[in-house]
Amino acid sequence: MLDSKRTLLVVALLTVVGWAGASVARAEDAAELWAKNCASCHGKDAKGETKVGAMMKIANLTDPAVRAKLDKAKVIKAIKEGVKNETAGGKDMKPLGAKIDDAQAALLADYVMALKP
Ligand code: HEC
Repeated sequence: MLDSKRTLLVVALLTVVGWAGASVARAEDAAELWAKNCASCHGKDAKGETKVGAMMKIANLTDPAVRAKLDKAKVIKAIKEGVKNETAGGKDMKPLGAKIDDAQAALLADYVMALKP
């Protein structure tokens, strides 16, 4: 009886530790994916304050007014299908679906949706 209780406890502990480890890895993955695939235009902080950002007229993704119009599905769509720039004189974002698979797009969408101003 004691043994099976102990086994249960060990299993529960391993599950919690494993889960925590996995979610940390996912967060790191997302930040790394962002740095590698998005930061050149959107900036490391997603504010769009890069040379390319200014040239293409990229919005600040941490701005509450911009965020109000975003949801996870829209971010995934932006990555997969590109974005039509609504600002006059701005450039569109080209689709990145060839470089970024579905799992990575979902990670990046969570990352964008979790950005703080
Ligand atoms: C070559 C430059 C460039 C790269 C690289 C780039 N973007 Fe964009 N992105 C743009 C431009 C231009 C726009 C359109 C203007 C705007 O809405 O700010 C845009 C818009 C967006 C939007 C707003 C979508 C909307 O509906 O308003 C999101 C979200 C976004 N990008 C996410 C990403 C993510 C995630 C990555 C990396 C996987 C990425 N972008 C890589 C240039 C880029």
